Parts: sequence; structure tokens; C-alpha cells
Amino acid sequence: MLITPDASHSLQDFGALSEADLRVLDASLQAQDSPRWDAFYQDRSKPCPFFGEQPDESLAAWLADEALIPAGRGRALDLGCGNARNAIHLARSGFHVDALDYSAQAIAWAKERVAASGAEVGLRQGDFFELALPEAGYDFIYDSGCFHHIAPHRRATYVARVLRALKPGGWFGLCAFRPEGGSGFSDAEVYARHSLGGGLGYTEAQLRAIWSPVLQVLELRQMHKPAADSGRFGEAFLWVLLGRKPRLRG
Ligand SMILES: C[S@@+](CC[C@H](N)C(=O)[O-])C[C@H]1O[C@@H](n2cnc3c(N)ncnc32)[C@H](O)[C@@H]1O
Repeated sequence: MLITPDASHSLQDFGALSEADLRVLDASLQAQDSPRWDAFYQDRSKPCPFFGEQPDESLAAWLADEALIPAGRGRALDLGCGNARNAIHLARSGFHVDALDYSAQAIAWAKERVAASGAEVGLRQGDFFELALPEAGYDFIYDSGCFHHIAPHRRATYVARVLRALKPGGWFGLCAFRPEGGSGFSDAEVYARHSLGGGLGYTEAQLRAIWSPVLQVLELRQMHKPAADSGRFGEAFLWVLLGRKPRLRG
């Protein structure tokens, strides 16, 4: 497939790319890789919204609702876990948790946080696109802030890998930039500028177009910004989405 900067691409278009095409497109963009994220995590004292210990308000609300996600919760994956603030909350809420991030710095920080918390979280450093994940292995997959750093040509693979790793009936939770939170680049501009510009903002319609063909979207709303003393993280420039993979029929 020929990618041109002014083309408008759908998930299906990108889904048709070969692994070789994907790698050519990866190389055409400013690196989104682990060294870049390692540099980002170098200074833990900088005022970055997600450097705190608070879990996302949306994740906490979903897990507090046992009518939504029943007790006896099974296995969860925190995808792009950073310092593990959400992974620790998942573990405290009754999940057996795996958490991955391809930044060694993030995983080193996550290890310290997990040890201090007393929670049990299995931490792995590596690229979500490369790591072997159990097929239908997870009851819950959570991504806070990773998906909007995924290049458009990797989006279809991302969705396919999430679906493959989720059990039928399993939940997928997402926290991702709204248009005003991201770079404002369209997919076409990403390839014209060779950059995601710090993360892509999504409209509600774009998120629905990506996720509703494969998941039952249970909730899609603007994230709340909780009071500073709430013990929860939230920013109004983010969406939160909770979806459920259909159960097998028969
Ligand atoms: C905005 S940070 C969010 C970190 C964490 N989820 C949180 O909310 O505190 C995005 C994280 O995704 C990780 N990441 C981005 N692309 C990834 C990939 N392909 N595989 C694994 N981790 C990735 C980065 O290293 C970074 O830690």
C-alpha cells in the first residue's frame, strides 16, 4: 500500500499493511521508542500529571462497581504502565496483574513503587507489539495514556493484539487524549510532519469508529478532574472508555 501525506486512512487501510510496510512507516516517524521514554522518566520530580501515585478516577470508579465488574476478578494487564500507579490499584482491587512498559526507567520506578505498596504486580519491560502475551489470557486490559502515542499505521495491530489477549467477556479500559489534549495532528499530518507531535487527540466519533466494531462500548466520557485531595487522578483533556469483548456464542 502506498502511503501519501494527503491521503485519509481508515483502520482497515492500515490493517492491510505488511510487517515490512509497518517497519518502513515506523522508520519514517520521529522515534516513539524506549530511549525517548527513558529520557522522559529521567527526572521523576518534574510536574508531570501522571507522575503521582493516584490511580485514574475512571479506573477506580469502574472497579468500585461490582455490578459492572464482579468480584473474583481474574487477571489484568496494564499496558504502558509507567510508574505502575494504575497497576497497583488493579492489584489492590483483586486482580492478578501483569504490567508492561518499554521504558527501562519506567519499569525501574514501577518496581520501587510496587515494592513499597506491598501489592503484587508482574512487571515486564518490552514493546507491546513484540512481547508474547497469552491468547485470551486477560479479564481486564487497561491502557492509560499509551494508545494516543501509537502511530496511525500501528493502530489496527494494536486493536488486534488487545482483542487477542482479552478473554471473551473481558473488559478493556482506555484513557486517551481528547482533541484539545493532543497535538492536533490528523493521521495524514503525522506522515507529512514525521511525528505524532506528543500524542494524538481523538474525537468521540473516531474512538467509537475504532472500538465499537470490536467491543461493546459501555462508557465513553470526558474524564473528571477530581479534587486534589481525592486520591484520584483525572484531567479534563482526556477521554475514558470502557468496553467489553463479546462472549462466545453457543
Ligand atoms: C503517557 S505514559 C502513561 C504511563 C502510565 N500508563 C500512567 O498513566 O501513569 C505512556 C507510557 O506508554 C509507554 N509506551 C508507549 N508505547 C509503548 C509500547 N509500544 N510498548 C510498551 N509501552 C509503551 C511509554 O513508555 C510510557 O510509559
